[in-house]
Amino acid sequence: MLLPLLLLPWVWGALADKWGPPLSSPPLPPVSVTLRLLQIDVFHNTSSMDMQGMALLGDLETHSLDCSTCEIRFLQPWAQQGLTPKQWQDLELVIHRSLSDFIHKMNKVAQQQGKGYPFVTQVSLGCELHPNSTSRGFYDAAVNGEDFISFDVDGGTWFARQGDNLGALYTRDLLIQNKGATITLQFLLRTTCVNQLKSFVLYVNESQESHLWERPVAVVFARAPPPAGTPAPVLLVCHVTGFYPRPVRVAWLQDGEEVGLGGRLNSSGILPNADLTYQLRSSLAVEPGAGHSYACWVQHS
Ligand SMILES: *[C@@H]1O[C@H](CO)[C@@H](O)[C@H](O)[C@H]1NC(C)=O
Ligand SMILES: *[C@@H]1O[C@H](CO)[C@@H](O)[C@H](O)[C@H]1NC(C)=O
Ligand SMILES: *[C@@H]1O[C@H](CO)[C@@H](O)[C@H](O)[C@H]1NC(C)=O
Ligand SMILES: *[C@@H]1O[C@H](CO)[C@@H](O)[C@H](O)[C@H]1NC(C)=O
Repeated sequence: MLLPLLLLPWVWGALADKWGPPLSSPPLPPVSVTLRLLQIDVFHNTSSMDMQGMALLGDLETHSLDCSTCEIRFLQPWAQQGLTPKQWQDLELVIHRSLSDFIHKMNKVAQQQGKGYPFVTQVSLGCELHPNSTSRGFYDAAVNGEDFISFDVDGGTWFARQGDNLGALYTRDLLIQNKGATITLQFLLRTTCVNQLKSFVLYVNESQESHLWERPVAVVFARAPPPAGTPAPVLLVCHVTGFYPRPVRVAWLQDGEEVGLGGRLNSSGILPNADLTYQLRSSLAVEPGAGHSYACWVQHS
């Protein structure tokens, strides 16, 4: 029942074909990158629902799907690369038909399982490509915010995420029966998606229109000291910004030794910038005049 969602990777396949035969030295990203499709459907009742679909390269939204008309929107200047307008139109038609089928099947499962409306389905599928040239496909579906069913891409099989959920077991059995679709899904996630991810990495890198990797910039300063006469610690602030992807580690060193977690340390957590990079502020309270040296230490891919 979730298979209509595979159509977007099929786009990637078409895109990849346009890029020609397999590249002799395929581009490898300096950091791991992910191409992900998200499909969120709200079933209000048997006759009414809302749908939303999008594709993301890392955290960057590249395509969205207006599910009422099945029109694909291109959110990046390069997102339309690879297919002719006619091919995009054909694809929208195919998606439209498949979504209708998907809705029909979902309602059928919901009615057979006596599932109460309203309910929400969320599907996340795609692939990641690592700098060491390995890749991994994934497909995870949730119902009402709880893990429902996943696809083991290497094993080529479906499994229910909650062994006692009758709806998930029923759906798993339906999906396992469809062997052809399983083989297709495996191919799409292991081959088609990865090829498309490689071509995006190549294009994005060459055009430099988007960043899939940005180095952090760190600035250290002392917050304005308290008024004279009040004995208070000085707050050292380390502002780290402009980095992508999100994972980062920031630590303070006192005389070359890492300061352990505790009351002296405070962090803003990782926050988004407007340009899709991230920032973080970490502060350390120090006693003035103690004769120590301090450094802010940043580790990022
Ligand atoms: C990105 O482009 C630069 C030149 O602009 C090239 O040296 C580098 O190898 C490319 N990296 C990837 C991952 O394609
Ligand atoms: C289905 O839900 C929609 C939106 O919530 C509502 O407008 C409509 O009246 C409902 N139809 C039935 C048959 O319950
Ligand atoms: C390749 O890199 C990924 C991500 O860092 C890692 O999970 C995987 O184990 C690595 N595989 C090999 C064969 O080194
Ligand atoms: C940490 O910083 C936040 C603001 O950045 C502040 O509200 C909070 O009180 C601080 N916590 C401590 C323990 O200093």
